[in-house]
Amino acid sequence: MTVQLARESPTPHWIIDRTDERGLKDARDFLGDVLGVMGCDADMIYIGKTIMTELATNALVHTANDAVPVRVVVAEDGRPVIEVEDGSDARPQIRPIIEVADERDSLAEHFDSGRGLAMIAKMAAYWGWSMLEGRGKVVWAALPTVVK
Ligand SMILES: Nc1ncnc2c1ncn2[C@@H]1O[C@H](COP(=O)(O)OP(=O)(O)OP(=O)(O)O)[C@@H](O)[C@H]1O
Ligand SMILES: [Mg+2]
Repeated sequence: MTVQLARESPTPHWIIDRTDERGLKDARDFLGDVLGVMGCDADMIYIGKTIMTELATNALVHTANDAVPVRVVVAEDGRPVIEVEDGSDARPQIRPIIEVADERDSLAEHFDSGRGLAMIAKMAAYWGWSMLEGRGKVVWAALPTVVK
């Protein structure tokens, strides 16, 4: 799916610094402020922070850039879309938990990761990623609400 984003207004953004232990917390505060200004209620801000935390953690864990940009845009359907950019061309993949477990010897050992994208798929209205010509990608998720 291609998401058409309305980019006529300045895009709120935040850069998470891999070396800053406050980086993710500060990005959560930034996102809460932005979504609040957009008119999201507390429940929606909670959902947004949860989704952003998973996207940003994926960027930090699965890719190598020191700076992880986070942006909030409004899609043409009015939904706030959280974007997290990273420098890797590798694709996010929802890991089927049972299949992953079946490939290994111990079931219990391998039920402890591969939850983030599956959760985002349940919480977001829609999500996906867009490759950036030769400089990685943006992974994005739209919130299940519409703002004015
Ligand atoms: N930004 C990304 N760049 C490259 N690969 C990614 C990215 N995000 C996710 N992936 C791939 O998709 C897989 C599933 O991601 P997901 O967030 O569901 O699980 P996880 O990060 O492995 O574990 P968890 O989120 O439960 O701690 C990852 O293991 C990784 O292979
Ligand atoms: Mg993850």
